[in-house]
Amino acid sequence: MSTAANPLHASCYADNACHETVTIVENVQVARDTFRARFECPAIAERITPGQFLMVRLANLNDPILGRPFAMYDVIHNDAGNRSAVDVVYLVGGKMTTRFREFRPGQKLEVWGPLGNGFMVEPDRDLIMVAGGIGQTPFLALGKEALGKQQYGDRSVATVEARSVKMCYGARNAEYFAGVDDFRAAGVDLRLSTDDGSTGHHGLVTDLLSIAIDESESTPQVVCCGPEPMMEAVANLTAERGVPCNVSLETPMACGIGICFTCVAKVLDESGEWDYKRTCVEGPVFDAKKIAW
Ligand SMILES: Cc1cc2nc3c(=O)[nH]c(=O)nc-3n(C[C@H](O)[C@H](O)[C@H](O)COP(=O)(O)OP(=O)(O)OC[C@H]3O[C@@H](n4cnc5c(N)ncnc54)[C@H](O)[C@@H]3O)c2cc1C
Ligand code: FES
Repeated sequence: MSTAANPLHASCYADNACHETVTIVENVQVARDTFRARFECPAIAERITPGQFLMVRLANLNDPILGRPFAMYDVIHNDAGNRSAVDVVYLVGGKMTTRFREFRPGQKLEVWGPLGNGFMVEPDRDLIMVAGGIGQTPFLALGKEALGKQQYGDRSVATVEARSVKMCYGARNAEYFAGVDDFRAAGVDLRLSTDDGSTGHHGLVTDLLSIAIDESESTPQVVCCGPEPMMEAVANLTAERGVPCNVSLETPMACGIGICFTCVAKVLDESGEWDYKRTCVEGPVFDAKKIAW
């Protein structure tokens, strides 16, 4: 069988991805333990769409040897108006991000992307984005696209706009909210909740989601990203309310391009049978009803 005909071969998925060594332009703290890194990479900036991700590896370091997946936070235009750079926002937690935070402008990263399927905005519906922890990162670009503020990806494809865009964003406490000003500047109707009541609603982000669903005159579209228990709660709530919901899974990944199967999630397939799907190529965005939580 030729590699091109083999659906498990990376060439079926990663044909449009590029792998480049890029230079960091900025790596700044934006919230507690949270940083935004910007790097020049026109090849990815030109094509990446909201909900897609890229793999990032710290160049010239052998530890960690593998890259890590990060959502595209935004695409930055240069003075000539061309898409030139990509922003990622990351929470420092493990080995890679602890080292990444020390990287300075001028240092190098290896990146490959755009990867994954991304989100599809439903025309003329209320879009409700639900984020927990560091799960807000795919939603700035999605919100800007759905509000008609910025186009991503193929310029010949018209941007689909939502009727309205709300984001319910939950964090442990006020210090962890990252990018609140970015979302407000984009025109997203932002509702915040914290576990300790230090900002916004004192309680769960699903409380805010329930209110946002009630406010919609017709069935809204919900998208969600965050810790798995929170995504499961959102999946259950939207199923009870008969509201379609897509979730972006944050499974660990080794290759990002469909080869290693480290990223599988148990998902109902088209024939109604359970199957293991690779989050990197068949996701990371899945219908919430089809996930075995
Ligand atoms: C499609 C996709 C998009 C993503 N987008 C983002 C994003 O935009 N921003 C972001 O911050 N993350 C994002 N992630 C998650 C990110 O890729 C992972 O958190 C990544 O593993 C971080 O790398 P690390 O080396 O710092 O952590 P790792 O060392 O890989 O550790 C992963 C997690 O496990 C914990 N951990 C590690 N070792 C231990 C231990 N011994 N005991 C207990 N806990 C431990 C760490 O605290 C960390 O939270 C995304 C994931 C996916 C799949
Ligand atoms: S990360 Fe290797 S197959 Fe998905």
